Amino acid sequence: MSDFKDNTSSEHIPVLIEQIAELLTLPQDAVIVDATVGHGGHSLRFGAKLGPRGTIIGLDVDEASLARAQFILNPLKCNVTLVRENFANLPQVLKEHNIDKVDLIFADLGFCSAQLNDPNRGFSFQQNMPLDMRLDSRIKTTAKDIVDTYDQKTLADLIYEYGEERASRRIARFIVDFRKNQQIMTTSQLANLVCKALNKIPSLANRIHPATKTFQALRIAVNDELACLERLLQFAPDYLKKNGHIAVISFHSLEDRLVKYNFRQNKLQQTYEILTKKPIIPTEEEISLNPRARSSKLRIAKRL
Ligand SMILES: C[S@@+](CC[C@H](N)C(=O)[O-])C[C@H]1O[C@@H](n2cnc3c(N)ncnc32)[C@H](O)[C@@H]1O
Repeated sequence: MSDFKDNTSSEHIPVLIEQIAELLTLPQDAVIVDATVGHGGHSLRFGAKLGPRGTIIGLDVDEASLARAQFILNPLKCNVTLVRENFANLPQVLKEHNIDKVDLIFADLGFCSAQLNDPNRGFSFQQNMPLDMRLDSRIKTTAKDIVDTYDQKTLADLIYEYGEERASRRIARFIVDFRKNQQIMTTSQLANLVCKALNKIPSLANRIHPATKTFQALRIAVNDELACLERLLQFAPDYLKKNGHIAVISFHSLEDRLVKYNFRQNKLQQTYEILTKKPIIPTEEEISLNPRARSSKLRIAKRL
């Protein structure tokens, strides 16, 4: 793995960390899977409770995140193994490391602040960036490829399904009309187009940018985010020890719904006890310190 180089000023502040730490008790020799290790913020907190026989397996699809995590987690006493892999492939990773079952599977979904602000990643409509949106640079299809090539109906369905955007048909029509004359190369071009389609202008008074839902939809599609989450949720019970935990932080209702229904289904099958009857959300204080926490929801279940 490459050496950590801090080429962005975006420090990632881990969300809901106090609440998680309060709810989870981990034995000193726990085996922890951080499925989205990111900048290692949550893992650092988990790892501080582990002794030299404890283990953290940290996964991330993004090389830059892993480099940062390696730097941050270096002081820990426990074993730390970082792997560039999608959490949808966790079973293979565990097999390769001869691990049958673990004490905690943790996932903090979405992206880090550094990814959002990286001028090459194309996640932000606040800056002008190439329209990329891949968390994993090994993925072939970018957001630009999608807006360039999908037909109008498929685009509209995607923006509706993954963005829960009611004006998806109008946005798709604007995209297809625009691309007859010009390619949509950048995040600003797309954001402006969405604003035009919705006849809205971004304003400081309105915290939510009009293009938020369309950007969410494209990001989910590019990274196949919901299918990956479904896979993780489906196999998690097979890899948790008795009394082990699964904890998932989601950032929008599509993710949260998948977690909620999966936990309920496991409760019915008597494989999980749900520890969070309602999702845990950040305090006003946390939101004021870290606005990114605003939409976060934490659900935790215990393997029976
Ligand atoms: C919100 S950040 C995690 C931040 C981390 N908890 C911390 O405190 O630093 C999410 C990370 O998960 C990674 N990621 C998103 N989807 C993934 C997936 N399916 N498999 C592996 N990593 C993924 C992203 O690249 C990003 O680095």
